[in-house]
Amino acid sequence: MLGALPKVVHRAPSSCYSATGMQKEKLPFAPHFESITNTTQPTQMSEELLKETMAFYSRENPGLENVGCQQWLVDSAAKRYIWRLLYGLIPASGMKILDIGGGISSMTCYLAESHHYQLADVLVHDSADIAHRLAEKYRFFLHQCDWATLPYFESDVIIAVDLFPNVDQRLSEFLYWAENRAPLVILLLTFYPFPRSYLAKRVDTEELLTVCAWGKSELSRCLADHYGETNCDDAIDQSIVSDSLFHNGRRCIAMTSKKVDQKQK
Ligand SMILES: C[S@@+](CC[C@H](N)C(=O)[O-])C[C@H]1O[C@@H](n2cnc3c(N)ncnc32)[C@H](O)[C@@H]1O
Repeated sequence: MLGALPKVVHRAPSSCYSATGMQKEKLPFAPHFESITNTTQPTQMSEELLKETMAFYSRENPGLENVGCQQWLVDSAAKRYIWRLLYGLIPASGMKILDIGGGISSMTCYLAESHHYQLADVLVHDSADIAHRLAEKYRFFLHQCDWATLPYFESDVIIAVDLFPNVDQRLSEFLYWAENRAPLVILLLTFYPFPRSYLAKRVDTEELLTVCAWGKSELSRCLADHYGETNCDDAIDQSIVSDSLFHNGRRCIAMTSKKVDQKQK
């Protein structure tokens, strides 16, 4: 049974917001980075249990088997492995979780039944009808919008898997944004160890853009600018020398950023 859902508070813009409206106040957070390779061990949920859970919610919700993020989880052992690793870092059940770009799958139902779950997703791959139906049935908040337009509210954990920086390059903005809203931020960061670019189309004009995916130097510089000295380069180098989990060669880093308790310092 869900408890009280988080209260939504609208904040007036102030001078500590950047030109894009992002809050730029830097809070004390300690980051930890780990490359994800085939040998990384998930902590909490086994592959068997994940598959059983997926099958259970799929049976309960006809139509769910056709949505994009569900299909990725069904088809890709790497996606399931990453799911177990990253969501396994959430320390307990019953937490106020804000999932950014989590997509819709049977695991959305599981998360909503285990936590006070909120999903912010523009739903590029998934059916909005099914998403809204599940949100009503499992009583979670669905924000069908860009994360940067959410009103201010606090969470225990903010998680974003496979979104930054290669779907959304606003990683720097996001770190400020998330650390002002939750004491624990969990990210799956992806980058390419070789040059890669995409032809993209702006939705507000006819312009075509050629966008470079982030490699080691862009990711490393962004994290160093935000956190100062970290072990991020070790994790990046470790993932470069390991095989990619994905056919397209992208490398993955698990990042947790925890608020430092000033009293314990
Ligand atoms: C590559 S998919 C990853 C989905 C899921 N987290 C996973 O690992 O399979 C990126 C997800 O982010 C969502 N997304 C993209 N840009 C977004 C934005 N600005 N705000 C919120 N969600 C966004 C997409 O709709 C999609 O569900």
